[in-house]
Amino acid sequence: MTRTGEPAEVAGAGLPRLEAREKVTGAARYAAEYPLPGMTHAWVVPAAVPRGLVQAVSADAALAMPGVLAVLAHEDGDGCSAAPRLRPQVPELALLQGPRIAYRGQPVALVVAETPEDARAAAAAVRVRCLPEPHHVVLTADEPESYPPEVVNAGHPGIVEIGDVDAALAESPVVVDVTYTTPPQHAAPMEPHAATAVWEDGRLTLHHSDQAPWRTASTLGELFGLPAEDVHVVAEHVGGGFGSKAMVRPPTVLAALAAKAVGRPVRLAVTRQQMFTLVSHRTPTIQRLRLGAGPDGRLRAIEHEALQRSSRLTEYCEQTVTPTRVMYATPHLRTVHRLARLDVPTPSWMRAPGKAPGMFALECAMDELAHALRMDPVELRLRNEPDAEPGSRLPFSSRNLTGCLREGAARFGWAARDPAPGPHRVGEWLRGTGVAAAVYPGHLRPCVATARAEPGGRFTVRVAGVDIGTGARTALTQLAAEALGVPWDRVTVHLGRSEFGPAPAAGGSAGLASWGTAVHKACRALLGRLAQVGGEVPGEGIEVRAGTEEDVEARPELSRHSYGAQFAEVAVHPVTGEVRLERMLGVFAAGRIVNPRTARSQLLGGMCMGLSGALHEGLEVDPRDGDFVNHDLASYHIATHADFRGAEVLLLRDEDPGLNEIGVKGIGELGIVGAAAAVANAVYHATGVRVRELPIRPEDVRAPAGA
Ligand code: MOS
Repeated sequence: MTRTGEPAEVAGAGLPRLEAREKVTGAARYAAEYPLPGMTHAWVVPAAVPRGLVQAVSADAALAMPGVLAVLAHEDGDGCSAAPRLRPQVPELALLQGPRIAYRGQPVALVVAETPEDARAAAAAVRVRCLPEPHHVVLTADEPESYPPEVVNAGHPGIVEIGDVDAALAESPVVVDVTYTTPPQHAAPMEPHAATAVWEDGRLTLHHSDQAPWRTASTLGELFGLPAEDVHVVAEHVGGGFGSKAMVRPPTVLAALAAKAVGRPVRLAVTRQQMFTLVSHRTPTIQRLRLGAGPDGRLRAIEHEALQRSSRLTEYCEQTVTPTRVMYATPHLRTVHRLARLDVPTPSWMRAPGKAPGMFALECAMDELAHALRMDPVELRLRNEPDAEPGSRLPFSSRNLTGCLREGAARFGWAARDPAPGPHRVGEWLRGTGVAAAVYPGHLRPCVATARAEPGGRFTVRVAGVDIGTGARTALTQLAAEALGVPWDRVTVHLGRSEFGPAPAAGGSAGLASWGTAVHKACRALLGRLAQVGGEVPGEGIEVRAGTEEDVEARPELSRHSYGAQFAEVAVHPVTGEVRLERMLGVFAAGRIVNPRTARSQLLGGMCMGLSGALHEGLEVDPRDGDFVNHDLASYHIATHADFRGAEVLLLRDEDPGLNEIGVKGIGELGIVGAAAAVANAVYHATGVRVRELPIRPEDVRAPAGA
């Protein structure tokens, strides 16, 4: 049921991903699979306390074990060698540089050995003596030390305030005042983080599981005092990232440090259990929303305040209330981020940073308002459609939220719905439906690409983007073929090498828009050069390099976003509390769709991740020691195919000339936004129980024993 913007006009629309065969046959090589002569292996020795000082690291026993080459720590002594010095831009990457412990699991020593088994065994034999200090690891609603940061992630202002929210709420006939909380979550990409580092003649090569090879090269260059061009990052195939590989994480730095220290190649492959601590997570949030409306459903005031946490090391404040600045018309608006710095690993980007938890809370609160007004929740949203961005008054470059809501309602059969809250019993189960909106910004970031005509009619394109499983390589091949006016199978696109850069990350849903624009420009420039030489390609080929310096965030005269509407139907068992997804429909207006097949997969994946957050995911923090207790995929359940039934995607035609010349907005994150709210609203409609804390657990929705 996928319908797309311009299927017939794009070269190779619906092309299956080009590296599919390599991947399913195991021929595709990932970062931990490059065999190098003289390879060694590193293993992290983690801090056992969440806050304190390392007093002594003793490596004598470890060094006596088979295959052990070195034990690195912050200083020499007791068998340890001091790790090479770094020049970190962020304290989080100052690894093995000093005695302070800022989170449980922080690397306090690193073993390098001939095999992973040797390294692991020796790491267990390293003795670390710590001086623990009192710690604080669990975020609560009352954080006396919390503060409102001036600027939050992605450069958004921490606070946006328009009008007088308190006065408007006091005068509103209908007010919803609710608090929603979301837990820490983990990105859990299929391929755990891994780095293989080699130094040769003072230059570093890194085979790396990475969303941003070019940025990784510059970050490592800064850390080791090298020009970025002396760092080569290779990320040919990457098994997912969801934000966790968009910035350099500690394991990468440790691999490079270790390789420098021992003078041999070093591989550091993070175990699944270590992933939860070492490579970031999504912050928990405690969000208060106050919505005031008239009896006609028109909003008079919105207040959205989000309390979150970061580590002691790095101020990372997720942009959780920013979608509320975009979504609904209101004369009075107050949106505030607050941050508490705790003794925890640094949270960071995870698919739709801020937008996913923020839209969960906003879209559930809108559902609560609809019920308070006895108004259909689709209608409530339609009535509050703004004519310009509420938080900035910027005009929209394009916005088709109403189309998504209307088309979705028609296809989902929304009109037949009983508007009353549950319980709605159908046989043994309770059944209900829910709706929520989705939004995600469109970005265009600076990027260059190289296009090359080979004799014989083939073309080669290079850009330092990376295909993390999204289908980017395939879609870029199509865009290049389209710009060149040739069939897609005459074009080869090379990705995943920092030396092709500059290029932005496969992140912020900005990859295809940014890389694609550069590829388009390079291919068009190449056609110009070919015309100059009469179409005759010399033996050495013709190559041009082109791209865009432009960063659309630097010209904030338009509000640029993709939109969507998510519809879900659930069945809840009243005795067991089991929640089953019966069907789900995501309708999206997300710019020009280059490849409907891979686009659908991306959006379905996002919706599945939203379902997962609604029903399963949540890291449990042990208040005694700061450990993430459920640090494996057995106890941190992620929704899989069996959980995600009956889901479909509908793509609406969406033209947006205000972003870039290829009309691409980016779809990596839009699918997760609103998905959890649609499921939670459906659970309410099914049961009559409003759960304001994710994940929704069986004990939240089953009838009390004896009832
Ligand atoms: Mo995405 S969380 O911006 O890599």
